[in-house]
Amino acid sequence: MISTTTLNYSVEQIVKSFGGAKALSGVSMSVSSGEVHCLAGENGSGKSTLIKIMAGVHSPDSGVIRLADKEFARLSPREAVQEGVQVIFQDFSLLPNLTAAENIALPTYIYENSKFISKKATLKIAQEAIDLIGVDIDISLPVTELSIASKQLIAIARATNLGVKMLFMDEPTTALTRKEINRLFEVINQIKARGVATVFVSHKIDEIQEICNTITVLRNGEVVADGLMKDFGPKEISQAMTGQDVLTTRITPPLKPNVQKVLEVSGITAMPAFSDISFSIAPGEILGVTGLLGSGRTELAEAIFGKYQIESGEIKVNGVKMP
Ligand SMILES: Nc1ncnc2c1ncn2[C@@H]1O[C@H](COP(=O)(O)OP(=O)(O)O)[C@@H](O)[C@H]1O
Ligand SMILES: [Mg+2]
Repeated sequence: MISTTTLNYSVEQIVKSFGGAKALSGVSMSVSSGEVHCLAGENGSGKSTLIKIMAGVHSPDSGVIRLADKEFARLSPREAVQEGVQVIFQDFSLLPNLTAAENIALPTYIYENSKFISKKATLKIAQEAIDLIGVDIDISLPVTELSIASKQLIAIARATNLGVKMLFMDEPTTALTRKEINRLFEVINQIKARGVATVFVSHKIDEIQEICNTITVLRNGEVVADGLMKDFGPKEISQAMTGQDVLTTRITPPLKPNVQKVLEVSGITAMPAFSDISFSIAPGEILGVTGLLGSGRTELAEAIFGKYQIESGEIKVNGVKMP
């Protein structure tokens, strides 16, 4: 069941300290139904603290929380859930010993104070929730057997099942591949079309621009920019997050083409880890090697250091072929 009634949620002048350190110093933010609101900011800027306050996990030191037509000095997790606020934390808070279906349905049983739980009813509740967000996952599997992306979708299905009106997602794309991010964005757009407000926490500018309508940028616990996404370009977002002008000139490496390379790797192969890898590095260069988990980055580095056996190809250090 996804609610179709609208919800406005705002916080005003929220202050929160941990010990002597101020995490938030007077933050205001407002979110409405059908909006994907980006909460952006560098690490440590206060994003997680703010959403924990809005979800009733932390109490603010001062400030006002306005949820629907009610005003709170602090919110309990139960009050937040009753108003339709759900959070998907970075660990998803799923119960590892239960199946995906049980994870989705259990809170509904608890919420409804049900005395009887049948396997059939559980599967029905969970399948409906999964169908509603339009994904295909085997819900009879224990959650430990699901990928990170699927676990996240199970957490979203659970939230929508609890009548979510406002969904907070804390850095949801961190551990996902580009394909999984696309699927997540499709789901976010679907629940958006049903009138749910989503607060999308991120510091990745391309993703923010792709999925969000509105934005609040935090820096050192303060709002440094907010407004409509269309009024912000990548430069403005980056500048707001860092407080620094963005360097737009392309840096060309100060290299001479005939300089002696420090490392030359030609066509090295070590199946199944990698095959036919070639690159070279000159003095003063920094070479980045990137790829998804399991793509062979580690084995490549180990092979260059002689720890991982290569089958063919050659490695030269300062022009000298390595044995
Ligand atoms: N439970 C906590 N105890 C002490 N300090 C905390 C706690 N949670 C957050 N902080 C501090 O508050 C600041 C903001 O953190 P956080 O809200 O996690 O930032 P973000 O999510 O933007 O990375 C940081 O300096 C962090 O160290
Ligand atoms: Mg955080």
